[in-house]
Amino acid sequence: MIRHQLVIVGGGLAGLRAAVEAKGAGIDVAVISQVHPGRSHSGAAQGGINAALANNPESHDDTPEKHAFDTVKGSDYLADQDAVYQMTQDAPQTIFEMEHWGCPFSRYDDGRIAQRPFGGAGYPRTCYGADKTGHYLLHTLVEQAYRRQVAMYIERFVTSLIVVEGECRGVVAYDMIRGGFEAFVADAVIIATGGAGRTYANTTNAIISTGYGAAMAYHAGVPLKDMEFVQFHPTGLYTTNILMTEGCRGEGGYLINDLGERFMERYAPTVMELAPRDITARSIWTEILEGRGIGGKDFVYLDLRHLGERKIAEKLPGIRDLAIHFEGVDPVTQPVPIVPSHHYTMGGIDTDVDGVTAMPGLYAVGECACVSVHGANRLGGNSLLETIVFGRRAGRAVVSFLADGGAGRPAPEAAARAALGAVQERVDRLSRAAATEDAYDIRGEMIVTMKQNFGIFREARQMQEGIDKLLSLKERLPRIGLRHAGGAFNLDMIRTIELEGMLDVALATAVGAFKRTESRGSHARTDYPNRDDVHWLEHTLALYRPDGPPELAGKPVALGMFEPQERKY
Ligand code: FUM
Repeated sequence: MIRHQLVIVGGGLAGLRAAVEAKGAGIDVAVISQVHPGRSHSGAAQGGINAALANNPESHDDTPEKHAFDTVKGSDYLADQDAVYQMTQDAPQTIFEMEHWGCPFSRYDDGRIAQRPFGGAGYPRTCYGADKTGHYLLHTLVEQAYRRQVAMYIERFVTSLIVVEGECRGVVAYDMIRGGFEAFVADAVIIATGGAGRTYANTTNAIISTGYGAAMAYHAGVPLKDMEFVQFHPTGLYTTNILMTEGCRGEGGYLINDLGERFMERYAPTVMELAPRDITARSIWTEILEGRGIGGKDFVYLDLRHLGERKIAEKLPGIRDLAIHFEGVDPVTQPVPIVPSHHYTMGGIDTDVDGVTAMPGLYAVGECACVSVHGANRLGGNSLLETIVFGRRAGRAVVSFLADGGAGRPAPEAAARAALGAVQERVDRLSRAAATEDAYDIRGEMIVTMKQNFGIFREARQMQEGIDKLLSLKERLPRIGLRHAGGAFNLDMIRTIELEGMLDVALATAVGAFKRTESRGSHARTDYPNRDDVHWLEHTLALYRPDGPPELAGKPVALGMFEPQERKY
């Protein structure tokens, strides 16, 4: 049994920032991660992080309040405005802190941090490091965590929570390197495991972004919030869905249809390619549905040729490499085939601004959580910001929780042994099972269902079919087994265990989408095309039910600063 005061599940930006905060306050902190923290999915974020620094000559009068307004409007008024205000107020200080810790931001000639335009923002306020911003931020925080001697348990897959009388007191993890399961007991646990992109077939997300972290909390009785809001990034590479950053359009890239038109003129004539992601993705998809995809196919072009080789080399070197290696086109000389691709999970574990969940001792932060600062549609550049701002706050909240009586309680040894036994029994059962269903078939059918039935445009009949399909997959789950039991690096076991969680998370998305009879942000229903503030200006809470679909409840949105208006760009 391994003991720490605080166990953080997930080694991306949110988890690491929480770790740095708590460790800096003298707490004994451990980070448990499926991959080396430097390989967390935060590193895949390309284009930037928002803060009203007002460094760009065109943004000299930018302020955190304007950043808050853009975020709330971008969210289609579903974001909690107190949380947004907190995030945008904290943003400049967050950038300076990362700068002082050594993050190599791109700069202007006078040395100030450079800022580029991003979608839905009234000002160029996205700070960046070329097109590798997430990578730079992540490695900065990895260094800070190691510097403070945060304990790192790398290549461990966390299977379940240890819960004692309704309080979270640790986790059980599979040690991928040595094989076998271990119990980690703690006074508090933070889940920071990222989004659920891999529940869709067409995602920009890494293999590890399965939603399993959120599922662990959900299975333990903590509600998921706003899961129906799924972001499609306008520009994923056509054949692989690999991200082509919004920075491409921020730097002046065009979107072009088969007729050679910059078609965004029809949909967002003022801001063109810099409309928010929900609007841009819908516009591309409409072009495709109406037959103006390139050669009548289901992609359009991202055209960067007019930017020139020098600018692309300086500002967008990473996407040039990706386009060459994964699509076989060089953006300097050829337009890049792109398609909207699942990118971000706006919903997640229901938390407050300090990462506090409904379960004492359990906190959540980053993409697996829903604070909510993104509401129905996240602005590009606000995700990296959210991870660091709320990572710090969650770390601080745990420090207070421990100081206020959370520390020094007896280790829950019996509960830890029971949780360990339950996981071992689950694996033994799976390995003994005469499997009549293949876990990979079920996973394949699930991700295609999510792509086809809960995509950019949604409609009741298609969603009902999708829900029926997901429920039938859930019924098939008890008949799966392991191809190979025990041992080290048993990826078959990990994929099989996480499947159940993924299906439940997918069902929360599906049922939430079906029940929300309006269009708002990323949730665009052809049968309910309008936003309905009278009935639906509220969050959705999904409560786990083992034998069927989740039960849904509503939760008020925190308003107060900005009255809901029509969204025009
Ligand atoms: O387009 C991008 O670079 C992605 C940024 C984000 O998701 O915030």
